[in-house]
Amino acid sequence: MVKEQLLSRIRAEGPIPFDEFMDAALYGPGGFFVGEELRSVKAGDFLTSPEVSPFFGQMIGRFVEQERARWGEPFRVVEVGAGSGSLLRSLGVDIETWAVEVSPGAREALEEILPSGRVIAKLEEALGPGVVIANELLDNLPMAVAVRRGSGWSEQSVGEENGELVMVEHAARPEVASWADAFSGKVGEGGLVEVQLRAGQWLVDALQSLGRGAVVVIDYGGTAEELEHRRVAGTLRTYRSHHLGPDPLLEPGETDITADVNFSALLAMGSQEGAEVELHRQDDFLSEMGLREEVAVLRREELDLARRGDEMARLKVRSRRIEAETLLNPRGLGDFRVLVARLSG
Ligand SMILES: C[S@@+](CC[C@H](N)C(=O)[O-])C[C@H]1O[C@@H](n2cnc3c(N)ncnc32)[C@H](O)[C@@H]1O
Repeated sequence: MVKEQLLSRIRAEGPIPFDEFMDAALYGPGGFFVGEELRSVKAGDFLTSPEVSPFFGQMIGRFVEQERARWGEPFRVVEVGAGSGSLLRSLGVDIETWAVEVSPGAREALEEILPSGRVIAKLEEALGPGVVIANELLDNLPMAVAVRRGSGWSEQSVGEENGELVMVEHAARPEVASWADAFSGKVGEGGLVEVQLRAGQWLVDALQSLGRGAVVVIDYGGTAEELEHRRVAGTLRTYRSHHLGPDPLLEPGETDITADVNFSALLAMGSQEGAEVELHRQDDFLSEMGLREEVAVLRREELDLARRGDEMARLKVRSRRIEAETLLNPRGLGDFRVLVARLSG
């Protein structure tokens, strides 16, 4: 259905830039995120840190407490793209909490755990000091695709050929070329760069919504330099049912479309807004919040239960410990990045 809509739009208007295609495939009528299905759960399409272990939300809760101590009241937490609400449910902090969601399925789940009126469609509806959190959101915000040609850039759009969606290349729009110049890192001829203007604008809007407080962006990706080795084919990909899916043009609306987040661009946008910015690895950030001590406590508990011969209880503790360690896996979730941008108002 999404594919048909896109084909008739392209027939009428000509090729559409990849960011507009991604917007339609994820957020337009029939789009991947606007259905009733809950995507970020074990039976869904991706498994996120808060779904893996409640320790993730708990560590974020500690961060929120530290920030509240720094900034004082009034103070609130807003999670954007809150999914099933597993992060907000495990925060363990007595604080005013809001969720921003576009997916009807996720909104329904969130309405069960938050007071009425606290599940909203747009961040602008929750203005005020606090912490704004986005875990695995910015990798889904529509992005353009620039292609290195000589010393400049062209851009990929989605066109039509024999009833199928195909990529076509044309001169890059000026804002796409200047973003690519600033944040692509070194890219060889024909190399692909996802141009994340919307993610940058999201960070600016989030900071402005706070006035005073911190924005925390957690996602896969890295600095421009760290992403350089992926620039031959780019990092754009699709996911469905926890597995890599087909080419993004094959089944729009049926798959998640995502790419590594360019944190250099976000750091620059944050600084430009007057924020103090920090970038951490997720394993370091969670360690700083005390997760390794929690793992050590669970290990001691396991040993104790083993000594007492309580195998059932030991296995339960063991699985909580393994879930917590998954958040710290240096080649998995631990390799995610955590950007903190603080604004003192
Ligand atoms: C990968 S899931 C992550 C869910 C949750 N943050 C977690 O960590 O489990 C992305 C979520 O963001 C929501 N989403 C995507 N784009 C959004 C947008 N522009 N505004 C608000 N929510 C959005 C989706 O509906 C989905 O629930």
